[in-house]
Amino acid sequence: MPVDNSANNYDQNLAAVVNTTQGSYRVIVGRDVVDDLGSELKKTGLEGRAFLVADVVMFPSALRRAQEALERGGYETHVLALEIGEANKNLETVQVVYEWLADMRAERRDIVVAMGGGVTGDLVGFAAATWLRGVAVVQVPTSLSAMVDSSIGGKTGVNIAKGKNLLGAFHQPKLVLQDIAHLESLPAREMAAGWAEAVKHGLILDAKLLDKFERLAPQMAALEGEEPVAAIRRSVAIKSEIVSADEFENGNHRILLNYGHTIGHAIEKVSGYGTYLHGEAVAIGMMAAAGIAERLGMIDSELVERQRRVLQSYNLPTTANDLSVNALIEATKSDKKSRSGTIRWVLLEGPGKATTRRDVPNDVVRDAVQSILD
Ligand SMILES: NC(=O)c1ccc[n+]([C@@H]2O[C@H](COP(=O)([O-])OP(=O)(O)OC[C@H]3O[C@@H](n4cnc5c(N)ncnc54)[C@H](O)[C@@H]3O)[C@@H](O)[C@H]2O)c1
Ligand SMILES: [Zn+2]
Repeated sequence: MPVDNSANNYDQNLAAVVNTTQGSYRVIVGRDVVDDLGSELKKTGLEGRAFLVADVVMFPSALRRAQEALERGGYETHVLALEIGEANKNLETVQVVYEWLADMRAERRDIVVAMGGGVTGDLVGFAAATWLRGVAVVQVPTSLSAMVDSSIGGKTGVNIAKGKNLLGAFHQPKLVLQDIAHLESLPAREMAAGWAEAVKHGLILDAKLLDKFERLAPQMAALEGEEPVAAIRRSVAIKSEIVSADEFENGNHRILLNYGHTIGHAIEKVSGYGTYLHGEAVAIGMMAAAGIAERLGMIDSELVERQRRVLQSYNLPTTANDLSVNALIEATKSDKKSRSGTIRWVLLEGPGKATTRRDVPNDVVRDAVQSILD
């Protein structure tokens, strides 16, 4: 019997289907898939006009290519390119988007497409969540950390003066489309920070993926051939599975993604936001968490060193300097994930296997934090 592989070939870029209370959506990961943006959007059944809001770094060629793809899919498309960064991830910038949507008379049935890093995805996603009480959003993440992390899961939001991401909404996208070719222009440090989150997925849930990240580091970092694409696809699938299992972060799944983040957030805060990129702080935070697990006898020093080597092979820092143990420990206490009282630590039990513990003695934490300071 002749086998028709065309559908399979076509769907080889499908990394995951995310299932949520707001609906299910496909996550497409591949090289040059931005050209499929219009045809993929069509499959969702959405029919309105497309309002493409992009980080200005994607202007002009990547942005134009996305616009043309939408138009080939039959979507009337309007484009807004904005300078969007952590410094203006706020309501003023959202207001700029609202005013543009108002001028264009964007309606309930129209579609907002967010193209850029995590800041763009969060901010434009938030604008879409609130415009006319919510219009469809499509995420086209262009940084590695947005690909493997923030574009999936529906968390949107902006900062206010009192704190980061204090304003937001769960607004699941209708489609997530990730073009690996976009990463070619991403600055090296941002790329490394993204690898930290991708490697994290291997560390907590997938020993095989971890092996791959370890074995193929130079090839991965250079985005050479198909292996990096496959690894990003798998990392995306892990995040997608977790979101599907624990959409609102009240179960025991989504918290595992917090591996390295308790100390990571403390490092970002104590060093002053922007000193370390988030992924860099998480890499150091994972070393602290590994130190805790080792001291509790959950893992051996071999795994701690293995984790260190993998992170280093992606040009990530594994120690921090000029920070005080006391300040870091104090900062972990105000981390929003721990406000309920004791900190719920995400710790490894082995490669690709994480669990959570609340009963970590203070001196163990102190000792492990000390060990990541130069
Ligand atoms: N929603 C979530 O679940 C979630 C999860 C984690 C982080 N976040 C948020 O994500 C944000 C961080 O995202 P990020 O790390 O992508 O930062 P970012 O959006 O600031 O992007 C990093 C830098 O890379 C640039 N850039 C992006 N794509 C590029 C490309 N293809 N070529 C060249 N330059 C490019 C950006 O202009 C920026 O300077 C934070 O605001 C954080 O709060 C959200
Ligand atoms: Zn993170």
